[in-house]
Amino acid sequence: MAEYFQRVGPDWHSQWAWDNYEPTILALARQFGLRRICEIGGGRDPLFTKEQAAAAGIEFIVNDIDAGELALTSPGLKTACFDIAGDLSEPDVARGSYDMMVSRMVFEHIDGVEQAWRNINALLAPGGVALTFFPTLWAPVFALNHILPETASRAIVHALFPARREGGGDPKFPALYDWCRGNPALLTPMLNRAGFTDVHIQRFWGHGYFDRMPGLKQLDHAFNALAARTGWNLVTTYAYAVVRKDRG
Ligand SMILES: C[S@@+](CC[C@H](N)C(=O)[O-])C[C@H]1O[C@@H](n2cnc3c(N)ncnc32)[C@H](O)[C@@H]1O
Repeated sequence: MAEYFQRVGPDWHSQWAWDNYEPTILALARQFGLRRICEIGGGRDPLFTKEQAAAAGIEFIVNDIDAGELALTSPGLKTACFDIAGDLSEPDVARGSYDMMVSRMVFEHIDGVEQAWRNINALLAPGGVALTFFPTLWAPVFALNHILPETASRAIVHALFPARREGGGDPKFPALYDWCRGNPALLTPMLNRAGFTDVHIQRFWGHGYFDRMPGLKQLDHAFNALAARTGWNLVTTYAYAVVRKDRG
């Protein structure tokens, strides 16, 4: 999977990761001929609408653990309600059936990420690809979110981002950060254990949380630029984890 990212050459700043997530999914789908794509934890805010999926020539299925979130998803999309880290006993589970599984801002909420990766291996068809996009510790902003009690971090996020207040349409889910790290040397052995030999971790630094705080924004940007230049894994802010299941 590394060759694709070597060729594309992503920027170090996480803004690239946000701006290019959907295009990356579609480019990988085209490159590997992947048609049936499941978004894990797509909930009320899936990556593609029915029209966008049709235009891209993909079959798009939205998964979530919460049927209430799936009830709010974009109209006309197929849904599959199950826990990606569970025992895969739910009726909506279809093993070996997806060509691609993707997720955005879900893995930090999952209790049992290694099991989730094992389940992804079971749910993918041979040669299938998974791409997850998640925030990483110990970036100071997420480390703070991790160590503060949930009520305090919720209050800060609600103050900074009014849309994420209760009933604001963009709720804050509790974050656990299990295996949410940017260090390839940490993640790769876990992904190998989950059954994947073809693994790539794309690291990003920087974030937008201080965008409305002049001074702090520039200081933080300088810190992240230096961390990116030196490849400091401990303080990555986000990562893409990309794996391909063996063709069998
Ligand atoms: C922060 S929201 C992200 C929603 C969307 N992916 C986005 O980018 O806006 C996290 C979503 O993951 C779902 N989720 C959490 N744990 C899950 C699990 N174990 N299996 C499937 N979905 C899960 C939540 O219900 C929620 O809809």
